[in-house]
Amino acid sequence: MGRLSVNLCGIEIDNPLIPASGTFGYGQEYAELYDINCLGTFSFKGTTLEPRFGNPAPRIAEAPAGLLNSVGLQNPGVRKVIEEELPKLRTVFRKPVIANVSGFSIDEYVTVCEKLNREEQVGWLEVNVSCPNVHGGGMSFGTDPSAAAAVTRAVRAVTDKPLILKLTPNVSDITEIALACEEAGADAVSLINTVLAMRIDLKTRKPVLANVTGGLSGPAVFPLALRMVWQVSQAVHIPVIGLGGICSAENVMEMMLAGATAVQIGSANLKDPYACPRILAELPKLMDRLGIVNIQDIIGGAHHG
Ligand code: SIN
Repeated sequence: MGRLSVNLCGIEIDNPLIPASGTFGYGQEYAELYDINCLGTFSFKGTTLEPRFGNPAPRIAEAPAGLLNSVGLQNPGVRKVIEEELPKLRTVFRKPVIANVSGFSIDEYVTVCEKLNREEQVGWLEVNVSCPNVHGGGMSFGTDPSAAAAVTRAVRAVTDKPLILKLTPNVSDITEIALACEEAGADAVSLINTVLAMRIDLKTRKPVLANVTGGLSGPAVFPLALRMVWQVSQAVHIPVIGLGGICSAENVMEMMLAGATAVQIGSANLKDPYACPRILAELPKLMDRLGIVNIQDIIGGAHHG
């Protein structure tokens, strides 16, 4: 066990850094740049039952200290992921991976999870009840405690693998949703997904995004994510995975002090594809400066004064 390792729902990972779903594809593009086995694990692109082309363009907009996306869950569908992406992934990644699952109905979540549950390399299932860019699915399950619990319970019945529910910040009390997921059988929660936002083009006087709204991520949302991780980790007894604007070793440390067992790195990968190895190299140096021997010792440290 190294000084950076943490235990994520019974699976020891070498370090707490996890590229977030939607910013790392199925691993191949990054594997061409560096050995992705340096990562704790990664969460692959949100996968649905059928292939999806996503929302019309433009679906990316800039913001001060952040980025808006309205991708709309573009992905090749679970069959292609199992037949093509996972066999390719095995050739470049030796560790368990997080399978990120999206859906438009409880049946869809269950079917996709059942299929991915049979895949040996899938270590955890991360169920996304928080995509703000689709209608009739995604976030609509994550803004109501009983709907979030219903998805959790249904998926729990078809998997013994660790089950992570990915939560939206677009609610008035995220702890209610997290508690509902915990009670329904979730092994962990990850938060936050993106913040519902928009931009307007001054020349056309129209919204920049074809979908009008999109999800804001990046450093702009870090303090908001930190506050929610702090609140949720006090409310639940299951691990919390913190994400939202993390782009440095300092941010990782803050998130873990707030209560995160591990962290996901999202839009930082889009700005700098080497963000994760860079943060990984920074972490031990920062720990030395702060007198921290093992990173797991700081989880939730800010709650204890
Ligand atoms: C998307 O594909 O629209 C982004 C995924 C998400 O925000 O959950």
